[in-house]
Amino acid sequence: MIRSIVESCGAYLPERVMTNDELAKKVDTSDEWIIQRTGIRSRHIAADGEFTSHLAIKAADQALSRANMKAADLDLIVLATATPDQTFPATATKVQATLGMHRGAAFDVQAVCSGFVYALSVADNMIKGGMAGSALVIGAETFSRILDWNDRGTCVLFGDGAGAVVLKAGEGKGTAQDRGILWSSVHSDGRYHDLLYVDGGPSTTGTAGFLRMQGREVFKHAVTNLAAVVGETMGKVGLEAKDIDWLVPHQANKRIIDGTGRKLGLSADKVVVTVDHHANTSAASIPLALEAAVTDGRVKRNDLLLLEAMGGGLTWGASLVRW
Ligand code: ACO
Repeated sequence: MIRSIVESCGAYLPERVMTNDELAKKVDTSDEWIIQRTGIRSRHIAADGEFTSHLAIKAADQALSRANMKAADLDLIVLATATPDQTFPATATKVQATLGMHRGAAFDVQAVCSGFVYALSVADNMIKGGMAGSALVIGAETFSRILDWNDRGTCVLFGDGAGAVVLKAGEGKGTAQDRGILWSSVHSDGRYHDLLYVDGGPSTTGTAGFLRMQGREVFKHAVTNLAAVVGETMGKVGLEAKDIDWLVPHQANKRIIDGTGRKLGLSADKVVVTVDHHANTSAASIPLALEAAVTDGRVKRNDLLLLEAMGGGLTWGASLVRW
């Protein structure tokens, strides 16, 4: 059977780093509160004139060069973002043009923090269906642009960044030992729209709006939904938690990450954590964490990775990938 093999990954973080102490000068908060409740110590913030597409292009360039591929070799770009450069066209088409890919298809996927898992599952199914032989999947965000910097309950939680992976069609035997994406599960439940949303948009206020969140409620749903989708995904492939080499979770909050790792019975050294220096970069957080663990040599060929995320919508999902 056709499998989508992950050829390479790339990442980009804006140069400017904002510490908790800097934030404490803007709003009534403290380094101690932020670390204790979230595990976040610092985040990267895009410069003036640096857009989501710019971050995406840098991450994509690195992933393509590590795969020894040119953009012209790609059939597909799927870009997960909730902070596009413009309402339309899709940020993916800007990335496509700048990279020099003039054929195939490029489009955005919007599932907020779950966006990367959604994008990965869309690209994987297009490859498996024979519509594409290769794909670039990107998660890129500039959440700093939609934060209310006077709201201490949200502005301390997010950062900017981008990560990307290159997928290529390969042959598998249809077993859990195959390399590539083994299974992805995605879910949403729009009844919980008001727990996490942006209070603007082209069809409502005509402005971009600001992020609004009921943090405690989101936290409760995250713990329940992530446990369910992880169990569902493992079950589809016939694997158990003990088979996982690395948990590469969406980086929203250290307490949510620790809770998921504990439920799976994984020791802390099997969980990739970057939330301390990236904060929550929404759709970019999984590929950023993945790239960190691949580059420092933790993730090795044939390792089994579990990716999982939850975000606004509510949306949630998980992917099992053999590296
Ligand atoms: N600094 C200091 N105090 C603060 C801050 C801050 N930055 N933010 C809130 N507080 C105060 C509140 O005002 C409140 O004070 P009060 O008791 O006097 O009213 C107190 O801290 C407790 O507030 P809670 O919101 O109940 O704090 P909680 O322990 O739930 O932590 C947090 C808040 C960190 C947002 C937590 O709920 C959380 O992480 N939720 C998950 C949200 C999330 O990760 N969203 C990301 C998108 S979805 C996803 O990616 C999974």
